[in-house]
Amino acid sequence: MDSSHLRHDPGFYARKPREVCMKMARKYPRSFLTEAGKFLLVAEQRGEIIGYLAAKIVPLPPVAKVKQAGLVDAVCVRRDRRRMGAGKQLLRAALAEFRKRKIRRVRLLVELENSPARELYQTLGFRDRQALMTKTLQRAAPSKL
Ligand SMILES: CC(C)(COP(=O)(O)OP(=O)(O)OC[C@H]1O[C@@H](n2cnc3c(N)ncnc32)[C@H](O)[C@@H]1OP(=O)(O)O)[C@@H](O)C(=O)NCCC(=O)NCCS
Repeated sequence: MDSSHLRHDPGFYARKPREVCMKMARKYPRSFLTEAGKFLLVAEQRGEIIGYLAAKIVPLPPVAKVKQAGLVDAVCVRRDRRRMGAGKQLLRAALAEFRKRKIRRVRLLVELENSPARELYQTLGFRDRQALMTKTLQRAAPSKL
């Protein structure tokens, strides 16, 4: 798991041994290559993969005008190759792919503290629409909320 997740929300993400992380990291992209409605893009520099983006099409509730939305599930660029435009290129390519699949609404989740990612999304026209609020419940019910 990307260490930034752990840094942004240490109360939620578990620190796992390296080999477990490697196994998860190998398994994760596979579904994006094989399942319908999902796709995986990679950024290459001189034949080397320096970043990836995983995306899928998700259903929207029946009250929505459109039936489906695009969801950018993950985007990551190798630490030593950041700030060279790869993230923006991956996002642009994903938006083009969604457009090709007739998707008109694209969404994603990002930690509020993740300013590099938020800046990137904003430069591409993404705007804050909702806030995901979370609360950790104690095992024993407290006397007050
Ligand atoms: C977010 C991430 C994918 C950006 O990739 P990148 O290749 O560095 O981004 P780009 O070089 O294409 O940057 C495009 C624009 O995004 C913004 N941006 C990117 N990194 C930034 C930073 N560290 N600080 C401020 N703005 C930043 C800038 O507006 C930048 O344009 P500019 O360089 O002309 O100013 C990369 O930082 C990353 O992999 N982070 C860890 C994983 C992560 O947090 N993923 C998002 C989870 S929701």
